[in-house]
Amino acid sequence: MSLLLSPINIGKLSLKNRVVMSPMCMYEVKEKDGMITPFHFAHYGARAIANVGLIIIEATAAQPCGRITNHDLGLWNDSQAEKFTELVSSLHYLGSKVGVQLAHAGRKAEDAQPPVAPSAIAFNNTSSLPKALDIDEIKQVKDDFVKAAERAQQADVDVIEIHAAHGYLINQFLSPLTNQRQDKYGGSLLNRYRLLQEITTEIRAIFSGSLWVRLSLTDYDHSGQQNSMEDWIQICQWLKRDGIDVIDVSTGGLLDKAPDLPIHGGYQTPFATAIKQAVDIPVATVGLLTSPTLAEYILQNQQADLIMEGRVLLRNINWLADAAKELHDHQYQPFNAAYQRGQ
Ligand SMILES: Cc1cc2nc3c(=O)[nH]c(=O)nc-3n(C[C@H](O)[C@H](O)[C@H](O)COP(=O)(O)O)c2cc1C
Repeated sequence: MSLLLSPINIGKLSLKNRVVMSPMCMYEVKEKDGMITPFHFAHYGARAIANVGLIIIEATAAQPCGRITNHDLGLWNDSQAEKFTELVSSLHYLGSKVGVQLAHAGRKAEDAQPPVAPSAIAFNNTSSLPKALDIDEIKQVKDDFVKAAERAQQADVDVIEIHAAHGYLINQFLSPLTNQRQDKYGGSLLNRYRLLQEITTEIRAIFSGSLWVRLSLTDYDHSGQQNSMEDWIQICQWLKRDGIDVIDVSTGGLLDKAPDLPIHGGYQTPFATAIKQAVDIPVATVGLLTSPTLAEYILQNQQADLIMEGRVLLRNINWLADAAKELHDHQYQPFNAAYQRGQ
């Protein structure tokens, strides 16, 4: 049996395989109210029937002004929570574990007037100048993340992932390139970590499931100012101490810059492996892991514990069944006997 398609336990989280659907915004909220629609039941349900072990529901905003666009999902009120609970229950019925990525876009919120950020620095020439959050507003952001987490807990999610990557609000606090505050939320690495620390420890106190964080481990910046690998290792050590169970390692998104690494399958995996080795914490790797053989190699060589799949699951729902064939995994079982006849 392949590792990719075999079960794994990470703390209290038991997964039937190591394939995780990476969070992907669908911008399918029609009424700009943050509510789940029939699209989300069909979209995520199809991936559950296709045997994805863990589905992480797309970036879901903790505050209305934290949406990338007004078509994003939200968990800032109880009506959203009600529909969300139905979605989680239907995905559980179909056999997948379910996570949600809690997010705030900060200065990258395209429809917020104005967007907010740690400091008044725009993302690029065409984006709005953000308003720098004051101390009370930072507390409100933190409280709203925790309230969204309470709603996710009530909805029975297995995983909460805090979105601290891709240049969104928490990432903006972590980086000296976007955080030029003079108060306790800016300056030293510890101060820049403070918002993520407060959100993590407060969610940890109320959430009994598996708590993940997604980080971007390079900003593709060569000015010498971006967080170094040593800084990221320190942040990950603090995250482990503060109750994070899995670190989901991505890159980029803070600056208006494309990756300047050679782009190939697994190009972000060395960042995940570096954290796994230095911090001794389970890691998920993401980025063009479309080849099942490459994914299996990464797992067999302990470069990462979990494989996140994004775009390939948008174009090939049957990816896991195809992976079973490629890996000669004869123990792989499709969703039911009827689907078996289609193999
Ligand atoms: C349509 C789309 C929406 C995305 N939305 C999110 C998101 O909500 N949160 C996030 O952390 N990453 C998001 N991403 C990034 C993916 O989760 C993933 O990290 C990236 O696509 C690389 O993995 P892949 O090569 O398997 O697609 C999105 C990517 C795509 C293509």
